[in-house]
Amino acid sequence: MRFLRSLVPAAALGAASLVLAGGSLWALAPQEPADKAEALLKQMTLDEKIGQMVQVDLAALADKNDIAKYFMGSVLCGGGSDPAPDNLPSTWVHANDTCQAVSQHTRLKVPLLFGIDAVHGHNNVQGAVVFPHNINLGATRNPKLVEEAAKVAAREIVGTGMRWAFAPCVAVARDERWGRTYESFSEDPSLVSEMGAAYVRGLQGAKLSAEPFSVLACVKHYAGDGGTTGGKDQGDTALDESTLRNTHIFPYRAAIDAGADSIMVSYNTWNGVKLHASKELLTNVLKHELGFHGFLVSDWAAIDQIDPTSYIKCIEQSINAGLDMVMIPNGLDKPNNYVNFIDGLKQLVADGKVSQERIDDAAGRILRVKAKMGLLDHAPAPTNKAATAMIGSPEHREVARECVRQSAVLLKNEGSMLPLKPGLKHIAVVGQAASDLGMQCGGWTIDWQGKPGEVTAGGTTLIQALQAAGLQGTQVTYSAEGKIEGNPDLILVVLGEKPYAEMFGDRFNLSLPANDHALVSAAKRTGKPVVTLLYSGRPLILGDVLTHSDALVAAFLPGTEGAGLADLLLGKAPFVGKLPCTWSASMIQIPFNQGDTAKGDPQFPFGHGLTTTVAK
Ligand code: GLC
Repeated sequence: MRFLRSLVPAAALGAASLVLAGGSLWALAPQEPADKAEALLKQMTLDEKIGQMVQVDLAALADKNDIAKYFMGSVLCGGGSDPAPDNLPSTWVHANDTCQAVSQHTRLKVPLLFGIDAVHGHNNVQGAVVFPHNINLGATRNPKLVEEAAKVAAREIVGTGMRWAFAPCVAVARDERWGRTYESFSEDPSLVSEMGAAYVRGLQGAKLSAEPFSVLACVKHYAGDGGTTGGKDQGDTALDESTLRNTHIFPYRAAIDAGADSIMVSYNTWNGVKLHASKELLTNVLKHELGFHGFLVSDWAAIDQIDPTSYIKCIEQSINAGLDMVMIPNGLDKPNNYVNFIDGLKQLVADGKVSQERIDDAAGRILRVKAKMGLLDHAPAPTNKAATAMIGSPEHREVARECVRQSAVLLKNEGSMLPLKPGLKHIAVVGQAASDLGMQCGGWTIDWQGKPGEVTAGGTTLIQALQAAGLQGTQVTYSAEGKIEGNPDLILVVLGEKPYAEMFGDRFNLSLPANDHALVSAAKRTGKPVVTLLYSGRPLILGDVLTHSDALVAAFLPGTEGAGLADLLLGKAPFVGKLPCTWSASMIQIPFNQGDTAKGDPQFPFGHGLTTTVAK
């Protein structure tokens, strides 16, 4: 008990007898989740209720014991806040289990929700399977496979003890200048809707439950994130209400029907109004009209943008708009830190500017979701080590490899160059990307922005896969710089965007860089057949890379399982991928989406994708 006293404010301990006399939270009789949440809410003080509404980034915590001191409901590791530079599964397990243990040093012992950006597999964790990004999953047109991918991601997330993923992103990306285009399944609301719902089912199961591998989905970012003018990240979505509803709100209905129980609000404005301050869209449309009964979480310090001159106004406007949980990444050295948020919200309630009913609604929503997940049924158990051992398993990698096979899009195939004919004596592979796992994975991989190079363990680059494919009698040579030696039968040029995330990926010129053009032109000048494969988070302006290539594959961002691409090139699997987005021929056509008939012909239309058969 002495240890406990050192962690918990006396005031809370004083009240502890009340609950312990009636048996701890864990002794409450089994009840329906909603009833259990209601019973718990009734026992809570204002501090405890407000605590549930607080989500703090681990890197911002002055002291982990603040989790108990302020009765926090959630913690996260946002992009770049990893618990330790090694990113090993055991490090993540330790971070999760430590935080959960601290949550038990409170009067009511309400466990935490530990949120993580597992957006294409458990991508923060060394050795986890990094799946293709959503743009690839949209290209598969295969909701069953997408559900399977999410299920594997859920198993690896639980392998680090966590049960909340900030995924799926159901942005409808309408302008590929946006740096987050690859986080969108498609430009088409129906395709996004279908894949988003499938991803929710994969993460949560048939419904969110106490099942060990049922991971809370967090559908994001509501609403209009993919529709900003010029594709500016966190910009303004200038649309009439009908277009906003039919394009950008549309996927949320299917996600809610699939059981999604948390939704992340978007940074952007709609016609100048911050989504985080829009009671119309958060409460009237999402909660009342669409019947969303889960909870709304803010984006990273997003409420601060409502009124940069007054943090208390940001709190008042966002909570009254219908925000339930606030993501607070700032430490005590910043005015908009978690203690100031708590003090500010308490003051607003005391002044009658935020009603007790609104607090009860917010905390109640959070508790109901925790109850559905079984978090109110027993004290948090240490992470299941058997699940940890499954991180990066061959079975999990095989699912990701199938996603790669079904998501690469064959844009051009003159003379049926692909699949590569058996009996080739020499394939010359050129381009850094062919041997760069980081470029294969893209952003949100180990690091927030991702980076080139050997970013994680267990992956396979395309060149590794080709050289391991056991091509009898075929020499596979490789030169990052494009040096072509000997007399190859064919040249495979692999190009790739440097990894990026969020606003760092916003670009106003999507032309391929000069050295990419140089690589392909040099290959062309040899007079040999040229196959070009491109890693990119979006359509890029191809120019003569297209004319100089006999065959061209848009692989987008396939993740760690490069062997899936070798399967396609070598005819072990057929090309089936279809473009989830219109591919513009020039910058002046952008934004260019299906139905934009006034812009002439795109380079390749939405849905384009050549097919091949499996080599005998
Ligand atoms: C970021 C992103 C959001 C992510 C969150 C936590 O800024 O907008 O997608 O889930 O912060 O890292």
